[in-house]
Amino acid sequence: MSEVEAEISMFERIGGAVVVDRLVEAFYGRMDALPEATTIRAMHAPDLGPVKNVLKRYLTEWTGGPKLYSPEKGHPRLRQRHMGFAIGNAERDAWLLCMRGALEETVADGNARQELDMALTKLADWMRNQAGNPHDAGTARP
Ligand code: HEM
Repeated sequence: MSEVEAEISMFERIGGAVVVDRLVEAFYGRMDALPEATTIRAMHAPDLGPVKNVLKRYLTEWTGGPKLYSPEKGHPRLRQRHMGFAIGNAERDAWLLCMRGALEETVADGNARQELDMALTKLADWMRNQAGNPHDAGTARP
């Protein structure tokens, strides 16, 4: 890979703000429609507008685009922010089902899509806070 290529962010590789926008819309569209996602849809407010907006800002920054999340929200502390929701393997799988479908629909570049899939799978694994997250291994339970 040349130095010039190395400087291209994932945000640019996938097509910038337009594609982040489409990705998040497609993701929550699936969450709204897929029977497998009923449980995680119910964790969200009826109006998905506000959370769509936050996820767009988060993913823009996370993929190396403009910093639209942290100036407003501070450090993401995403796992902490999800602690109020019971996320186990089933919830992770439902989230990933929606995200993978959305990635296939909206990210044309296959390599970029695969890299995003791998990174988001790790994040979703890490977000689990019910039995089964190796992150919690060794945590003393009363
Ligand atoms: C693994 C399963 C996951 C479940 C069940 C889940 C569920 C949720 C729920 C219920 C909310 C709150 C929505 C609201 O306020 O109405 C939320 C917020 C959010 N989630 Fe997730 N989530 C998951 C994984 C992820 C992952 C992997 C990411 C990162 C790409 C992510 C990014 C976010 C962001 C950025 C917010 C907004 C947080 C804020 O207010 O700053 N989530 N999620």
